[in-house]
Amino acid sequence: MKQLRDVTDQEYRVAMGRLLVMYTQVDYLIMRAVAERIADAPDDASRLFMAKQVGDESNHVRIQQEWIDRFGTDTTPVFNELQQDMFLAHFRSLNWIDFLTDMYVCIEALGGEAVEQIVPMADPGTRASLKVPLQDEVDHIAFGLDQLSGELSKLPVNESTAYLKTIETRLDFLDDTLHGLGIDVPAMFRAVGADYQKVVDTVMARRQDIMNSLAQPLAA
Ligand SMILES: [Fe+2]
Ligand SMILES: [Fe+2]
Repeated sequence: MKQLRDVTDQEYRVAMGRLLVMYTQVDYLIMRAVAERIADAPDDASRLFMAKQVGDESNHVRIQQEWIDRFGTDTTPVFNELQQDMFLAHFRSLNWIDFLTDMYVCIEALGGEAVEQIVPMADPGTRASLKVPLQDEVDHIAFGLDQLSGELSKLPVNESTAYLKTIETRLDFLDDTLHGLGIDVPAMFRAVGADYQKVVDTVMARRQDIMNSLAQPLAA
């Protein structure tokens, strides 16, 4: 992939290091938020899947932490204690359907899509460290979207259509929250050589695909 400008090795290492630390923190928080939710998942199939996901995320954290050590980057957390507590409190406060939207559409699918965008410009070691995590995310997203579709199909048509609009609002809100945390994500992406606008466009296209896939069975 074409790089927009020359990124010096040092600049790249610092920026990729920050992205790796951030990604690892998010995986760790997903692990905890999903673990807490197992107790009130709707059925055994979802409990079994979520328990597996918790194991996957734990594995991702281990893989990433080992790579971060070898990469030799600054390990200072990107999200402070308060922000981590806020993340967990947010997911604790949600009902099941909102949990599915925020966890699987926003964090897993759209966050994962953003991570996918930096893979082509990553060094071989970083790319290798992302392989298993990104593969597993495909399963997590499939589970979440399937559950969400199921929940929507149980609602009366007017309510499910209204909820689809809510999803858009929730995604905008979470996006604003991330920007409000004072973490300059665009700068982080640009510093590893990514075209940030292209990343945004790709994530938005994915978001539209997901919205279409959720709307389709309801219109049928
Ligand atoms: Fe993960
Ligand atoms: Fe995941």
